[in-house]
Amino acid sequence: MVSKAAVERIKAGMQYEFARTAPPEGFPALPPVPGGRYTDPEFLALERRHLWQRSWLYACHADELPQPGSFLLWKRTGSPVLIVRGKDEVIRAFYNTCQHRGGPVVKDASGRVDGLVCQYHGWTYGLDGRLVNLRDKRDFPDFDAKCHGLAAVRCERLGNWVFVNEDRDAPPLLDSLGEIPAMFADIQPEQQRFVHKKTYRVKCNVKVLLDAFLEVYHLKSIHQNTVDRFLDYRGTTIHLWPGGHSLMVTPNRRPEWEDPGARGMLKLATASEVTARHNPSYHLYPNLVTPVSDSGIPFILFWPVSSREMDIEVVWFAPDWGGGALPALWETRLANFERILYEDTQFAEYIQESVESPGYAGLHLNYQERRIYHWHEELDRRIGAERVPAALRVQPVLAPFVKPSLAG
Ligand code: FES
Ligand SMILES: [Fe+2]
Repeated sequence: MVSKAAVERIKAGMQYEFARTAPPEGFPALPPVPGGRYTDPEFLALERRHLWQRSWLYACHADELPQPGSFLLWKRTGSPVLIVRGKDEVIRAFYNTCQHRGGPVVKDASGRVDGLVCQYHGWTYGLDGRLVNLRDKRDFPDFDAKCHGLAAVRCERLGNWVFVNEDRDAPPLLDSLGEIPAMFADIQPEQQRFVHKKTYRVKCNVKVLLDAFLEVYHLKSIHQNTVDRFLDYRGTTIHLWPGGHSLMVTPNRRPEWEDPGARGMLKLATASEVTARHNPSYHLYPNLVTPVSDSGIPFILFWPVSSREMDIEVVWFAPDWGGGALPALWETRLANFERILYEDTQFAEYIQESVESPGYAGLHLNYQERRIYHWHEELDRRIGAERVPAALRVQPVLAPFVKPSLAG
């Protein structure tokens, strides 16, 4: 449950933000973030190795793997990862890499199988990854099948949401999320059902667009006729957690205001006052932004495709509506969201051109944009600041403003 103390802290934070005339006492002027962090091949290789291949990343919802043997192929880090529901209902992940010579054990993007049979020479694995059969065993003397199961990828859940991590030694998912699982109790992750997903390709570095979802400084320009009409960015309060995670709560202009797209939808009675009446947007480091509500939740995921191309994947969930067809109201809600998304993506290609040009002097961030700086500080911690070329490092300045607990 979001504690009463956390709710009170957020409400007080919004009041403080409305009233302030300058950044809080002691808040530093944020040093420029070097633009090369968005373009330099050496830096992007470090980012890939130390961030994308070593982070907990949202992969799918349990509803997308409805039966034992249901699988998905997931390649967002560049590695072929197979996610499969076992006969024991446990969802596991493996590299889609046969231990004989690397053949694929599945080729389709999704489907259902009884076992995992390599398409090359027929080695057969159970849904739990164990090697159960190989052709012409007589020609592999002293072969120990127990040592040749599929290589596992870490796979853990937050409610119905399935995350994977290629780092075998990573701390457990829930530990790595700090206070967030406790905060999420008001949206009941185990009650959330899969609604819809769609991916949009955008021609920019992944961070160019991720940045736009970490601040509301742009509301007055980009979303003048949409979001800005019901959210008042002047009262936005932000919490920075360790591990690069953060929360940004933007107050509704009128607390009694209801999103017309959500009118008539099933609502979670457990949602806190902040979730039901305002706009909390969580950032789960590195690439998951979720503006939660009591009637539906989008996960907005930012995936690198190349140094100057990315995918935004938007996945919607809703409180359990009892199965059957999705209520028709969702069509309007998804269309409304897509309109806002297009507003957010409209400058991405132009910004990419800019960051690649000699005219670009890096990012000059203000107090309202501190989640972006927090993101970059965490990236350097994960890479190891000593590995980052000196000219591309960010100077760590936010530590005094990072707190493990919102209520504490
Ligand atoms: S590569 Fe899989 S059986 Fe040969
Ligand atoms: Fe936006």
